[in-house]
Amino acid sequence: MSTQQLSPRFSSWTRALLMYTILVILWGAWVRISHSGDGCGDTWPLCHGVLIPVAEQGKTWVEFAHRGMSGLFGFLVLGLFFASRKIFPVGHKVRFWAKLSLIFMITEALLGAKLVLFKLVGTNDSPYRTVVMALHFLNSIMLTGSIALTDDFSRGFKWVRRKASPWTFEGLRPQRIFTGCLISFILIGITGAIAALANTLFPSESLSTGFVADLAADSHYLVRLRGLHPFFGLLFGGSIALTAWLSVQLQKPEELEFKKRSLQLALICGTGVLFGMATLLSMAPIWMKLVHLALAHSIWILLVRWLRELSMQHEN
Ligand code: HEM
Repeated sequence: MSTQQLSPRFSSWTRALLMYTILVILWGAWVRISHSGDGCGDTWPLCHGVLIPVAEQGKTWVEFAHRGMSGLFGFLVLGLFFASRKIFPVGHKVRFWAKLSLIFMITEALLGAKLVLFKLVGTNDSPYRTVVMALHFLNSIMLTGSIALTDDFSRGFKWVRRKASPWTFEGLRPQRIFTGCLISFILIGITGAIAALANTLFPSESLSTGFVADLAADSHYLVRLRGLHPFFGLLFGGSIALTAWLSVQLQKPEELEFKKRSLQLALICGTGVLFGMATLLSMAPIWMKLVHLALAHSIWILLVRWLRELSMQHEN
């Protein structure tokens, strides 16, 4: 079978893998929300030191299922890596992003192992846990981003750097917009991971008591930090949505693909900001926490594709 024929199949497979990745990440969030991180004791990768545990507690199943899902995920990413080498020629971008997906899959597993082996789970509220959780989030977006780009680059065979700006307005500098959006999203995401950890460890009784605690000098450092996220979410999330929306208005007539991606990004990012506000105002019920996280990864995937479109084009 030729490369041209195999590529669509590879693409559908990569998309399915992307959805599965988000499912594993959401289950990981459920492990945190349900305080099940120590459900397998402090042994890793074995659960309570054995392959299949005798589970007397629900949390053992929650953690064990997460390890099972992550294990399967590991094999799927390995499959992606080998398939990319079989199908795409040396030097093709798919090979590069599939290799990065494999690397980030391994670092994701190591960070997960670190949380368990160093007991950074349950009610642990140390700064060390906060740092590892932030890194875990950062790594998870690198992972979804790499798989999304593996998929993106598998459509089209010759990739070239854009020479001209896609916008009619010269004042918009693609390179600056690229860096600004990337840094903004990372800041929103890391502060989001901190807010989620703070809410898991120190749930508030009401919106007003939570707000007072956020500002009190003697509150736990996590509680004092969590207010950063709604602020960044509104400011930077709103800016990304606005930039994507402006991009729709200012695009050159021939930029049809870029216009489609800009519109998608503006809509999903706008939805993410509104849903974030609703999550905060309704004191983050579990289903909203999970939908908010799923939305965050969906925004990220569309952002990554948008940034790719901003910097590179394919020639078939
Ligand atoms: C583009 C916009 C946004 C993105 C990408 C985003 C992303 C995130 C992420 C990644 C988390 C961590 C979720 C987890 O690990 O479980 C989070 C949590 C949270 N976000 Fe956002 N967020 C956005 C906007 C907002 C806004 C505007 C608000 C409020 C005004 C908000 C309120 C919250 C709250 C309250 C949590 C903690 C939820 C919990 O208790 O688990 N977010 N966000």
